[in-house]
Amino acid sequence: MKAAVLVKFGSVEQAFQIQELPTPEPKSNEVLIKAEAFGLNYADIMAIKGMYQDCPPLPAVIGYEVVGHVEKLGPEAKGVKVGDRVVGFSRFGGYATHVVTQDRAVVQISNEMGLSEAAALATQYCTAYFCAIEQANIKQGEHILIQAAAGGVGTALVQLGKWKGCVMYGTAGSEKKLQYLKEQGVQHPINYQTSDFAEEIKKLRGDKKIDVVFDSLGGKSFKKGVGLLAAGGKIVGFGAAEMSGGSKSIFKMIKLGLNFGLYHPVYLMMKTIGIFGVNMLQIADNKPEILERCLKSVGELARQGVLKPVSGGVYSIDQLAEAHKLLESRQSIGKVVVKW
Ligand SMILES: NC(=O)c1ccc[n+]([C@@H]2O[C@H](COP(=O)([O-])OP(=O)(O)OC[C@H]3O[C@@H](n4cnc5c(N)ncnc54)[C@H](OP(=O)(O)O)[C@@H]3O)[C@@H](O)[C@H]2O)c1
Repeated sequence: MKAAVLVKFGSVEQAFQIQELPTPEPKSNEVLIKAEAFGLNYADIMAIKGMYQDCPPLPAVIGYEVVGHVEKLGPEAKGVKVGDRVVGFSRFGGYATHVVTQDRAVVQISNEMGLSEAAALATQYCTAYFCAIEQANIKQGEHILIQAAAGGVGTALVQLGKWKGCVMYGTAGSEKKLQYLKEQGVQHPINYQTSDFAEEIKKLRGDKKIDVVFDSLGGKSFKKGVGLLAAGGKIVGFGAAEMSGGSKSIFKMIKLGLNFGLYHPVYLMMKTIGIFGVNMLQIADNKPEILERCLKSVGELARQGVLKPVSGGVYSIDQLAEAHKLLESRQSIGKVVVKW
C-alpha cells in the first residue's frame, strides 16, 4: 500500500514522504478498507508543527478517518461486508491507501455521498455529537455559543443546534464565513476578528447570558466563555487553536495554559456551571462503545437529511501540502479531504 508518512516536523512541504508500506491484514473483528480518500483535521496541523502531544513518534502515518470500500474482513468482523462503501475511523494510520480498523468504527454510506461529506461524519460530526448531545445535552430554546462555527466541527455543532431548536451565536473570522453561518441557520453570527465576541453577546443577551458554550479555541476565549455562562450553564472545551500559532517555548505554553483560567469547584458550585473537557482519543481508547454510538447516530441523521456535511474541498495526493495550507489558513469552510 501507499502512505503519506510524516517524516519531519515543521514546514508542510517537507513534512511528508509518499512511501510503499506493507498492506495490513485484518485480524479478529477488524476490517480492511481500501481508501478512496482521507480527511484532514486541525489536529494534523498541530501534528505537523510538532505541537500535538498524542501524535506517534516519527516516522508516523497520521490521520483519523478514511472513506472507501471494505476489501477484507477479519474472521469475527460483523456489521459490514466486502464491497460496502464506508467511512471509518482510524486511530492514526488514515493517510494511507489501505487502513485496518475495528468493525464498530465503520459505518456504511451511500455510493452517491461525496468524499468530504462522508469523511466529515467521522471525527468532526462524532466530536460534535459527543459534545452537544452526550455531554452538554442541548435542548430546544437554549442559547448556545459555537466558536469557530464555520469550520468542520463548528458546522456539525451548528447543524445539531439547529436540529435541537437552539438559538445560536457562532463566531468566525471573515464576512464570507458569517454569510455561510447565516445560511446554516445561525441567528447571531459574530466576527471575532473585528469585535469582541463576549461584548457582542452581552449586548444581545443582557443579563440572561448563555446556556452552553462550545470552545475549540482555548486560552482567553475559554475564560471569556466561562464568564458568559448563565446559571445551569455548561462549557465544553475540546480544542486549543489559540495555541497553534507562534513558538513552542515552555513559557509561552504555560502562559497560554494559564489564560484558560483556574476554576475552584466551589466557584463552579456557587455559579452552578459545569466545565466539560473532551478528547475523542480518550473515548476511542477507553469507551469505544460511545464512539460507535456517536458514529451510528450521525450516520442515521445524515441519512435522514438532518445533518448535511459541507465540503471544504477535495485535493489530490500530490496537493497534500496545499490541502493542509488551506486548513491552516483559516479560510476553509467545512471538511477538507485528500483523495488517492
Ligand atoms: N478534542 C477532540 O477530540 C477534538 C476532535 C476534533 C477536533 N478538535 C478541535 O476542534 C477544532 C476544530 O477542528 P476542525 O478539524 O473542524 O478544524 P476547522 O474548524 O475546520 O479549522 C479550524 C478553524 O479554527 C478557527 N480558528 C480560530 N482561532 C484560530 C487560531 N488561533 N488559529 C487557527 N485557527 C483558528 C479558524 O476559523 P475562523 O478563525 O474563521 O473561525 C479555522 O478555520 C480544532 O481546535 C481541533 O483541534 C478536537
